[in-house]
Amino acid sequence: METQISANNDPLAAAYLAMEHSAFYDVPLKNFAAPWTNEEQSLFVPLNDYSVTVIGMVRDEVPFNQLLSADLLYQGDPALGLPPYSPANNDHYEALEVSGVPLKDALVAARQSDLNGLPATATAGVITSRQAARAFFIAGTNRAMFRFTLLNHLCLDLEQIKDTNRAADRVRQDIPRSPGGDSRLFLNNCVGCHAGMDPLVQAYAYYDYDEVAGRLLYTPGQVRPKYLINADNFKPGYVTPDDQWDNYWRAGPNALLDWDSALPGRGNGAKSLGVELANSQAFASCQTKKVFKAVCLREPVDSADHAQIAAMSDSFRANNYSLKRLFAESAVYCRGE
Ligand code: HEC
Repeated sequence: METQISANNDPLAAAYLAMEHSAFYDVPLKNFAAPWTNEEQSLFVPLNDYSVTVIGMVRDEVPFNQLLSADLLYQGDPALGLPPYSPANNDHYEALEVSGVPLKDALVAARQSDLNGLPATATAGVITSRQAARAFFIAGTNRAMFRFTLLNHLCLDLEQIKDTNRAADRVRQDIPRSPGGDSRLFLNNCVGCHAGMDPLVQAYAYYDYDEVAGRLLYTPGQVRPKYLINADNFKPGYVTPDDQWDNYWRAGPNALLDWDSALPGRGNGAKSLGVELANSQAFASCQTKKVFKAVCLREPVDSADHAQIAAMSDSFRANNYSLKRLFAESAVYCRGE
């Protein structure tokens, strides 16, 4: 790599060349994606349809803003003779890992709807992967899927984007309006997350994880029972009728996330919500910061680092959301450190 940099005076090309080594896909990139696929954010989880899809998208420079909406999953090449993809277990990916075949050569793209049987319009990239369903649609109220998507892909904890000035008309019945007998607590705290979050999580109203079958469950037109639990906590609260989501956070302080003004800020289902989230500036700068940290092995610290992150996140958007390019640009910036 060093020779190429000095010889050709084209460090970006050299960094791209370095990524042609299969080790890049088998170690750093795998470790980059693995923590997003489980609640514990652990690296030490088997390969799965979520992490492998990320790795494949990077290799093929699939525009990364499709991560949360595409009808796409990567799998091991059928020619490898692994157990085929199953929507009900992870055997395919575990066998792929055990096989030791370099991921750079092993992965092929597939239409997700062909693999998991969802209608194409109901696919939403890694959100509707088996692994994400298993980790984030399991039990609960489906708010976990939103919380972890925000954390992993917009680098935001809900605590940071609380906004108590949004209308509470879509907050579900399960949220008590006078927790502990004190309505001020609802107005000063609970509403800060639930007013904005609940109308977004409505996008997932037809999705669930079937623990017995071990697979994603999708019931078009039928709101999952988990959306209607604990109705007695506040009877006049919102009763979810369908999967129509609205982004109340386009107004108020969270306009700073810089949503795409060409999009309507509302829609039906997980796919259009994925488009909404992944086309925000917050998504682009989050991917950039994550890659910077993965490559430079440190947090950005000074103004030069922050200027670099801003420049790379613009370049990410201008270059068809290529995550591979972000890796190359980060490698050039941090070389010699
Ligand atoms: C910082 C954001 C935030 C604030 C503030 C907040 N919540 Fe939540 N709430 C969440 C998230 C995220 C979930 C989903 C948690 C999960 O399932 O992983 C949730 C889930 C819930 C649930 C459903 C629990 C279940 O799974 O059955 C209830 C009830 C609830 N919150 C009540 C409240 C009340 C009452 C307050 C105010 C005292 C409050 N929340 C404040 C983010 C917040």
